[in-house]
Amino acid sequence: MGNVKFLLFVFFLILIMANGCWEEERSALLDLQASIISSNSELLVDWAGYNNSNGFTDCCFWKRVKCSLETGRVIKLNLKTKFGRGDGWRFNASLFLPFKSLQVLVLSSRNIIGWTKNEGFSKLRQLPNLKEVDLQYNSIHPQVLLSSLCSISSLEVLKLGVDVDTSFSIPTPYNSTSMKSKKCGGGLSNLRELWFEG
Ligand SMILES: *[C@@H]1O[C@H](CO)[C@@H](O)[C@H](O)[C@H]1NC(C)=O
Ligand SMILES: *[C@@H]1O[C@H](CO)[C@@H](O)[C@H](O)[C@H]1NC(C)=O
Ligand SMILES: *[C@@H]1O[C@H](CO)[C@@H](O)[C@H](O)[C@H]1NC(C)=O
Repeated sequence: MGNVKFLLFVFFLILIMANGCWEEERSALLDLQASIISSNSELLVDWAGYNNSNGFTDCCFWKRVKCSLETGRVIKLNLKTKFGRGDGWRFNASLFLPFKSLQVLVLSSRNIIGWTKNEGFSKLRQLPNLKEVDLQYNSIHPQVLLSSLCSISSLEVLKLGVDVDTSFSIPTPYNSTSMKSKKCGGGLSNLRELWFEG
């Protein structure tokens, strides 16, 4: 019986290694890149280039992408930049929904200025494993961000913060008690870390 299990394990391992990342996630990454390029001049990384040159199509090996070794699904996306440039990026939550196992999403300094209609951060609650979101240094008022993130009950770590060069005043009080209670409608019940820099 143990042997059968072991063989099954090896079989799945081969399957994953042979197929690389999930096709839907690979094309979702390319969609994401296209969305960023269209609104923001800063190209984060030439993922499409991996596709064409040397046939390196396994997106689990792409920069800024981390996959689960067991399932081959994307579990972390780090889209952080040094400085957001361009016209600003309108967030579209649906671009992230194909990453069903996503746990960590880093979008700091991404020059996010808002979101397209009905595509706010609240929609990310459809990702049941999402534990950490980093939205530091984007041009959205933290209070607006917070109300959009409130319904993501899986969140454990939330990183907010503003650029010191902007004219934002940080609304007070921002403490975990108030976020867990009425301000968030009990939504962030699993939150254990809140960052607020800037
Ligand atoms: C990437 O490669 C696939 C085939 O592996 C192809 O269908 C797709 O059009 C390519 N995409 C880009 C952006 O080059
Ligand atoms: C948001 O992303 C989805 C998925 O890629 C796309 O179908 C939709 O058209 C986008 N919405 C806008 C307003 O760009
Ligand atoms: C945090 O918020 C709660 C609810 O609004 C409030 O009762 C509490 O005094 C605040 N704590 C601090 C340290 O500001």
